[in-house]
Amino acid sequence: MKRLKLDWLQLAVHILAWALVVWLIWDYFTGNLTVNPIQAATQRTGKIALIMLVLSLSCTPLNTLFGWRQALATRRILGLYAFLFATTHFLIFSGVDFQFNWDYLKPEILEKRYIIVGLASLSILFLLAVTSFRWWKKRLGRNWKRLHRLVYLASGLVILHYAWAKKGDIFRLQGDILQPLFFGILVAMLLILRIPVVRSAVSKLRWRLIQRLSVLESKRQPPDLKQTDVEPFVE
Ligand code: HEM
Repeated sequence: MKRLKLDWLQLAVHILAWALVVWLIWDYFTGNLTVNPIQAATQRTGKIALIMLVLSLSCTPLNTLFGWRQALATRRILGLYAFLFATTHFLIFSGVDFQFNWDYLKPEILEKRYIIVGLASLSILFLLAVTSFRWWKKRLGRNWKRLHRLVYLASGLVILHYAWAKKGDIFRLQGDILQPLFFGILVAMLLILRIPVVRSAVSKLRWRLIQRLSVLESKRQPPDLKQTDVEPFVE
């Protein structure tokens, strides 16, 4: 049997995600979810899903900028939690609030078009979650990477859904728009860092910085220590 291997970062993500679930259930049963608990739970799960998605998008740039390879191994887990919280968000809205009753849901969806945008992003996240397993990766080959680039489209749609749900005007910077705008800028920056030209420029810059720092470090070392450093090359 294959042994489950987790590093501390992956373990921290699992603990954080389940602590958030426990916190939500706790707040629900202790009456801490405002006077409209269903709406509060919908908003909270939506926000957590968005944060998980942004964290999963930041793994590759974190490796490019700081050489933090460990982050790459956490990318999939964060993405899967984003999908799980988004599904819970959808189920609370359609199941708890509207009892999966199409007659109630239809006018709501027609009135609030941002729900259609949410549905589109959830469908993409579903596709990515299902194909995130090694079996699909092998089966799809090069197309797997192409397919998983859809995460950028899903993130863009989620930001639009968020801004629209907040009833603000993103173009006139009016209403409750600051938080969606913050997340929008963050996602845009993370996407820019993934563009190959930008990525290689940042990698080169990081490499030069590391070299300069190691030169400075060696200058700071006492001379006799430097002597022992070169000893192996002295005949
Ligand atoms: C079928 C899919 C979806 C449905 C039906 C849906 C439904 C909703 C509804 C009704 C609201 C407004 C809640 C309120 O303020 O009363 C909302 C807000 C929100 N949704 Fe969704 N959503 C969906 C998908 C998603 C996905 C995939 C994400 C993120 C990954 C997401 C993130 C958010 C966020 C961040 C908010 C704003 C929360 C806040 O007010 O702080 N939603 N959604």
